[in-house]
Amino acid sequence: MHPREPADTFAPIPVVIDTDPGIDDMLALLLALNSPEIMVRGISVSYGNTTVENAFRNAVEILRRAGKRVSLGIGARRPLERAVVPASETHGASGMGYAPVPAAGVILDFMRPLERILAEQPEPVTLVTLGPLTGLALALRSDPELIRAKVRRHVAMAGNFAAKGNTTPYSEFNAWCDPEALSLVLQAELPTDLVPLDVTREFALSASDVSRLGGAEGDNARWIVEALRFYVEFHREYERLDGCVVNDVLAVAALLDPEALSFQSTRVAVDLEDGESRGRTRMASEGSLARVARQLDRDRARALLSDRVFSWAASSLPRPVLVPEMARV
Ligand code: BDR
Ligand code: CA
Repeated sequence: MHPREPADTFAPIPVVIDTDPGIDDMLALLLALNSPEIMVRGISVSYGNTTVENAFRNAVEILRRAGKRVSLGIGARRPLERAVVPASETHGASGMGYAPVPAAGVILDFMRPLERILAEQPEPVTLVTLGPLTGLALALRSDPELIRAKVRRHVAMAGNFAAKGNTTPYSEFNAWCDPEALSLVLQAELPTDLVPLDVTREFALSASDVSRLGGAEGDNARWIVEALRFYVEFHREYERLDGCVVNDVLAVAALLDPEALSFQSTRVAVDLEDGESRGRTRMASEGSLARVARQLDRDRARALLSDRVFSWAASSLPRPVLVPEMARV
């Protein structure tokens, strides 16, 4: 039901990421793009932390800074049934805190949606979702057979069980944004692995981690610190935490190091009513089969972030994006 990633082969795991960047999404994307164990085959961008226009611009800026060229598409512009409520108090008006970003452009019609990115994959991929589940729900509605054929594993940063919510006392942001989409995705039993707040709340960067990175020379380090500085201020004010919880990083860490998170099979349901329980995830016998991350090896996950994102950022100069044809000239 939940195949483990092949451990006895050097071929990188093909991955498609659906994301709403977002400050912790940015760290998760940089971790994925800088990791040889996985090959990021496509990124689909969703509304969530910010509007889809801002999120798309942020994804382009992250790719530019990473010096990588990856197919980009739009996963979802709005929830299935609810209104868009961007988290500007958490991630800033741009979605990147205080980090400078270019103006956002218009989203053109020829951008490829998630199912087109998946359809183009020559082999089944691991799909990582770091935002609301709307894009995947739309893809499942439009072509469920294609999605089942192309997604061998789905890892989602979503939900909370014993941990308190971060949007209502009972619910987590990605689940809250579009509970109908999460419910549809869970019912598809792709299979899905949830990385909930229960483990991500144990994975915080301290304010001094952020200041230490701020002392580095690299342009990318300074850019990341400007984003994190905003995120730390949010956590200080709203969560009374002297640091910041970088949730989405753990969904990528789970692929890179299977020892970083351990999962338990269970059945999960999501509450659809309005009010404080909107988007609440529960372990329930009537729910759908999923695996839920229960334990985190903080040191392993931290080593990945530190070696592949912070050390890289501290030493890297801005790199030009090499278009293959240009690279040959
Ligand atoms: C999730 O919501 C967003 O704020 C983060 O990017 C993360 O995906 C945490 O609840
Ligand atoms: Ca996110």
